[in-house]
Amino acid sequence: MDNFDLFKNELNEERLYVEKLLDAYVPKYPEYGRICEAMRYSVLNGGKRLRAIMLLKAFEIFEGSKELKEKYAVPFAAALECVHAYSLVHDDLPAMDNDTIRRGKPTTHIEFGHAMGILTGDALLNYAFEIISKIYTDNLDDIRNNSRKDIGNAILWALSVFSKKTGYDGMIGGQVLDTCTGYRPENDYTKSFSEIDKYLKDFNCDENLLKYSLRIYELKTSQLIEIALMCGGILAGADSDAVSKLEEAGKALGLAFQIEDDILDMTSDVQTLGKSVNIDERNEKSTVARQIGIENSQILVKMYTDIAISSLNSAASGSRFLSNLFESLIYRKL
Ligand code: IPE
Ligand code: IPE
Ligand code: MG
Ligand code: MG
Ligand code: MG
Repeated sequence: MDNFDLFKNELNEERLYVEKLLDAYVPKYPEYGRICEAMRYSVLNGGKRLRAIMLLKAFEIFEGSKELKEKYAVPFAAALECVHAYSLVHDDLPAMDNDTIRRGKPTTHIEFGHAMGILTGDALLNYAFEIISKIYTDNLDDIRNNSRKDIGNAILWALSVFSKKTGYDGMIGGQVLDTCTGYRPENDYTKSFSEIDKYLKDFNCDENLLKYSLRIYELKTSQLIEIALMCGGILAGADSDAVSKLEEAGKALGLAFQIEDDILDMTSDVQTLGKSVNIDERNEKSTVARQIGIENSQILVKMYTDIAISSLNSAASGSRFLSNLFESLIYRKL
């Protein structure tokens, strides 16, 4: 077996592990008008589980123990997949991207009705915070007596990252800018990665619009990936320098991931993706790929992925699985 096959096997194992834990976490009852059925439909329906896997693997590279993983990292991973699923359920609503297919099946609002689409997203977001707060109530003694004296503080630190980056100054802020296209703030352009910003003018397009789109991607897509890497590291005891590097890695990877998503919207098909294609054109979204073309977008995807991998390596050594994962997302060979 070559290295890529070994990586793929490990990835499949991680996916099965995450599927099982989500199955255990997402409630089955009480059913108020099918709410739990709709929550389970929205979460347990074949996502790639990238964010949960990244969180658990980031935890492992900082040598967090198995016991701490199960008590503390696993609930955060489950909560993150719930927030991610909620963001997709709402993203697909008629008032947003108006999409009818997700993960190869009818979107939640098509299957359960529009009001249920809104309420299911709300319920998943709320439930994510319920999962995290239960970490405390379930482990009070352990948090007091664990040989890792800082574990209580680490959970709070992770929670503050999680709540900020999912919110108005994070993923939701990005969705607002992405959806309410009439509004474009004057100076809110990407400021990260000067090594890439200097190439943007070569793409022969409206540089400000391009930088503004990248800013939206840093918010709507990178933030949940930053949560994954940072919370994994924080819970395993990483220091603040390493956590900042993980944040940088998440930001760069999210940019690469969203630009690749734009490319796939233009080049792939519904069977392969499990979601509609050409939806960005239909919704008149000026995505990065629509602004600079497929080839230039691929160059950007590669550049951001390289930054993500080198930031990851400077946060911690021994992150072979995660670097392979980052690399494999460039071509979405998975
Ligand atoms: C889709 O994310 C939303 C984007 C940020 C492009 P994923 O491609 O990770 O979605 P699932 O979880 O695998 O369905
Ligand atoms: C979604 O971006 C990002 C989210 C925060 C949900 P897209 O709208 O491009 O994602 P898809 O293509 O519907 O998965
Ligand atoms: Mg969208
Ligand atoms: Mg969408
Ligand atoms: Mg898309």
